[in-house]
Amino acid sequence: MIPTRADFPPGFLFGTATSAYQIEGAALGGAGPCHWDSFAATPGNVAGAADGARACDHLTRYEADLDLVAGAGFDIYRFSTSWARVLPGGAGAPNPEGLDFYDRLVDATLARGLRPALTLYHWELPSALADLGGWANRDTAHRFADFAALMAKRLGDRVWSWATVNEPFCAGWLGHFEGVHAPGLRDIRATARAMHHLALAHGLGLAALRAAGASEIGIVLNFEPAFPADPGEEARAAALRYDAVFNRFFLGGVARGAYPDLALEGLGPYLPPGWQADIAAISAPIDWLGVNYYTVKRIAPAPGPWPGWAERPAPGRKTDMGWEIAPMALPDLLRWISGSHTGDLPLYVTENGMAAPDTVLAGANGPEIRDEDRIAFLAGHLAAAREAIAGGVPLKGYILWSLLDNFEWAFGYGKRFGLVHVDFESLQRTPKASYHALRRMLQESTP
Ligand code: FCB
Repeated sequence: MIPTRADFPPGFLFGTATSAYQIEGAALGGAGPCHWDSFAATPGNVAGAADGARACDHLTRYEADLDLVAGAGFDIYRFSTSWARVLPGGAGAPNPEGLDFYDRLVDATLARGLRPALTLYHWELPSALADLGGWANRDTAHRFADFAALMAKRLGDRVWSWATVNEPFCAGWLGHFEGVHAPGLRDIRATARAMHHLALAHGLGLAALRAAGASEIGIVLNFEPAFPADPGEEARAAALRYDAVFNRFFLGGVARGAYPDLALEGLGPYLPPGWQADIAAISAPIDWLGVNYYTVKRIAPAPGPWPGWAERPAPGRKTDMGWEIAPMALPDLLRWISGSHTGDLPLYVTENGMAAPDTVLAGANGPEIRDEDRIAFLAGHLAAAREAIAGGVPLKGYILWSLLDNFEWAFGYGKRFGLVHVDFESLQRTPKASYHALRRMLQESTP
């Protein structure tokens, strides 16, 4: 059973999230090329040789998509702005059509009574900056601050909250160490630099937003509690290394002004000289922290150089991504984040959701989408959020990933996370059973 609004504290906010490259249509509206375009154009990188050229064509269908957000009774619409759409060359002259689009999007969000929660960087680095070394190049962090200032100047009077970077772990580690995200590198030196420069981009972007008068500024980090796959000491040590890199690198930098020692053991030798001087900017105060939570990991030791870990298959129930369904790790995670790092800082769950194959049935009035698994997943995680709040965590809102089925990065269009089904031939949107269940829950009362 999905809890009702009345089960949450007064003023607790609910939302749903999307990101630019995953829904807008990167080939539309004068956007410049980005590193996800060229990563996707390289054989073997994305399932089904898919890319974000058309995606959900949200660029032209955003009004109807916002009707779906408002129709469900959500309070927040979390979206991201494509840097390559606004600044096709990464810097220099903006694309007026791109800026106008986000202007209209923010207005259309407000017109529906929704709070616009804007994330500046959800991974589409302009190719012109990728050509100069991308995130391995310190200059990219400065160009990001320029982009942040431009956006704040245009939208700062209307945006409800700002996030600098979404999941820098993915952009940094998955993109430069594991090679499964753009730019597809497997190089520890590029990884260390990219991770630090992403953290610096957050810090410089934060300062630029503040200077432009923006408020309610945070960052969105992803977390995967890591458990040893067996009782041995080596598995315990491997899980601690995983935890340091995945969960504590950016959190430590932002909230404590220190990267964890266990991450520095491997990355330290490759960080750019003088990186310590950037920590003050990286750890400047923020107004809230976004927590993306999907799953936990079982970690075993692995031979070879640092970091020497291997993921073991999840026991129990899994999503279509193969991710273990673990709602009860969420209260502990949130308690740990606030207890050890962020104290009273407001936390938001900024993403949570599941991929499911979703049964499409031919109903009398069009397709019907049965996604009982997703309803059960959401019910479990909302119950976990309540438990965290009851335990004293300053959790202020809960944002679901995602509004629409979309381009799920290296998995292409095969993994469906939406509350709304998208037919990728016709682009028809059909709210799933989970959407209707949430609508009933959210409309029972207002915050
Ligand atoms: C997160 C990303 C988001 C989406 C979900 C499933 O890591 O922020 O874009 O891919 O996972």
